[in-house]
Amino acid sequence: MRPKDLKSPFAWQSRRVMIEHYQRILYVPERCQRVDLKKELTKIINEFENVQIEFCSGNGDWVCQKAQHNPKILWVAVEKKFERVQKIWSKIQNTGLKNVFIVCGEALEVATYYLEDCLVDEIYINFPDPWPKNKHAKFRLIELPFTKQIHRLLKPYGKINFVTDDKNYSSKSIQVFLEGDYFDSQFSDPFYRSDIQEYGTSYFRSLWEEKKRGFYFSKFQKKCKHKS
Ligand SMILES: C[S@@+](CC[C@H](N)C(=O)[O-])C[C@H]1O[C@@H](n2cnc3c(N)ncnc32)[C@H](O)[C@@H]1O
Repeated sequence: MRPKDLKSPFAWQSRRVMIEHYQRILYVPERCQRVDLKKELTKIINEFENVQIEFCSGNGDWVCQKAQHNPKILWVAVEKKFERVQKIWSKIQNTGLKNVFIVCGEALEVATYYLEDCLVDEIYINFPDPWPKNKHAKFRLIELPFTKQIHRLLKPYGKINFVTDDKNYSSKSIQVFLEGDYFDSQFSDPFYRSDIQEYGTSYFRSLWEEKKRGFYFSKFQKKCKHKS
């Protein structure tokens, strides 16, 4: 199957939130009415005991490798661009993976409105767009509204993995993760490691490796006595 064999289930003017059960895809298009699908999604997710989410999956290299090597885990891939979702879907079709569920939608919107509390064992955010210019900082995903939501989604003591090639985004994100008493770092000060040998490969990891950029890998654990 080629990526373009996955057709969008609606024209842009008639876009809506919907689950395509057969394809195992949840569509959460931009600027359209929210629908309460939490119960329906929980049913799908709870078919697996262990659930892990990758936000910003890109073309899905990393999540599909993980799913192949860990067939008892459900891997949820969240990616906002449909052309990239098509690539993830094509990989799933061509490898026959049964343990990946795709969400075509924006990470904060999906985390806030579509997923129930304490559903997820581990979360991964691999090479999210760093938006390095100050005037674009408002577009960064790792900000308090998002970290609050992922704290809510994680099971007790669940973990978050965050990797970037951008030192400044790494420092800012570490600050956000440690703000508000939601998470403990799994690494001591400076709260990141550069060695990601065992982490798995992705399109952007390979790209930045070729360009000899450094890596900043942080890991956090959900604190369980948070008072909100
Ligand atoms: C730099 S790429 C990294 C892709 C992949 N993780 C990798 O390592 O190859 C960032 C990806 O995140 C997606 N993305 C950016 N912001 C997002 C958001 N708020 N919600 C969902 N996806 C997002 C982009 O469309 C893009 O595919």
